[in-house]
Amino acid sequence: MGGNNGLGRTSAPVPQYACMAGVTMLQVDDIHLSFGGVNALSGVSVHAEKGKITSVIGPNGAGKTSLFNVISGFYTPQSGKVVLDGQEISRLKPHSRAYRGMSRTFQNIALFHGMTVLDNIKLGAHTNLKSGIISAGLRLPSARREEVELDKTIQRDIVGLLELDHVKHKHVEDLAYGLQKRVELARALVMRPKILLLDEPVAGMNREEKREMSRFILGVKKDWNSTVLLIEHDMAMVMGISDHVVVLSFGKPIASGTPDEVRSDPAVIKAYLGTADEPVQNAA
Ligand SMILES: Nc1ncnc2c1ncn2[C@@H]1O[C@H](COP(=O)(O)OP(=O)(O)O)[C@@H](O)[C@H]1O
Ligand SMILES: [Mg+2]
Repeated sequence: MGGNNGLGRTSAPVPQYACMAGVTMLQVDDIHLSFGGVNALSGVSVHAEKGKITSVIGPNGAGKTSLFNVISGFYTPQSGKVVLDGQEISRLKPHSRAYRGMSRTFQNIALFHGMTVLDNIKLGAHTNLKSGIISAGLRLPSARREEVELDKTIQRDIVGLLELDHVKHKHVEDLAYGLQKRVELARALVMRPKILLLDEPVAGMNREEKREMSRFILGVKKDWNSTVLLIEHDMAMVMGISDHVVVLSFGKPIASGTPDEVRSDPAVIKAYLGTADEPVQNAA
C-alpha cells in the first residue's frame, strides 16, 4: 500500500518482509491489569499476524474489553507491553496510537446522530488530516484538496466494499442496527489502519445481520489484506472467520490455537459450559 493514501499523507513503500506470511503486526506481551482488588488481566499475551484475523474470546467478565482498552491506550496496565509493527507503543496516548495505524470500533455504537452515513465515515479521518481543523474551517485550498481526496477514497474503496451506497446520504439514526454497525466499521477503515480492533462487532445482532457482518469482515481481510483483532462473545461467529483464537477466562489465557484446536480444548469447553453461554459449536 505504498503511495498516497488519499488523505494527503504519503505512506512509505511497503517493506519487503511485510508481504511474507507470518509477520507479527501487533504484539501484546504479558499484560497485568488490576482495578483495586480485581485482577482484570493476568499475564495475557496475544500476537496478531499481518493479514490474518485473530480473535479473543471468553465469557462475560473474562477481560476482553479491558484488553482492548490496554491495546488502544485507554487503560494503563501495571505491567506488560504493546508493540505495533515493530515499535513499542506502550506509553503512547490513544490518539498517538491511532495516528500510528490503530483503529477500533466500540462495543456500543458510537455514531453521531443528525449526520449522514458519509459524514460519519469521514469523521474517521479528521484527526489525521494534515491541514487540520483551522485551515479546513478557513477553507484553504490545501484543506479542500485533502477533503476531495478523502471523499474519493471513501466513495471508491469503502462505500463500495461495505455495500453502503444505497444509504450513504441517510442519517445514521434512521438505519437498522446491523447497518449502523457497518458504518462504524467503515469509519474505522478510513485511515487504512495497520490493525483494526473490533469489539464485539455482532453483539445484539440477529442471525442474518451476524452472517452479513462476518462476510464484510472477511471482505476487508481479502481486499485490503487487513490485520484484524476481534473480540467477540459469539463463538459461532468467531470459529467461522478466525485464523487464530485466544481464549480468556477470568482474566487469564486458557487456550490459544486454530478454531479447531480451541473448540476441542477441554479447558475451553469447561469455561464456556460453566456459564450460561451457548456451547462451543460450528459456524452456522
Ligand atoms: N473501569 C473499570 N473499573 C473497575 N473494574 C473494571 C473496569 N473495567 C473492567 N473491570 C472489571 O474487569 C473485569 C473484566 O471486564 P471486561 O474487560 O469488561 O470483560 P469482558 O469484556 O470480557 O466482558 C470484570 O471483573 C470487570 O468488572
Ligand atoms: Mg466486553
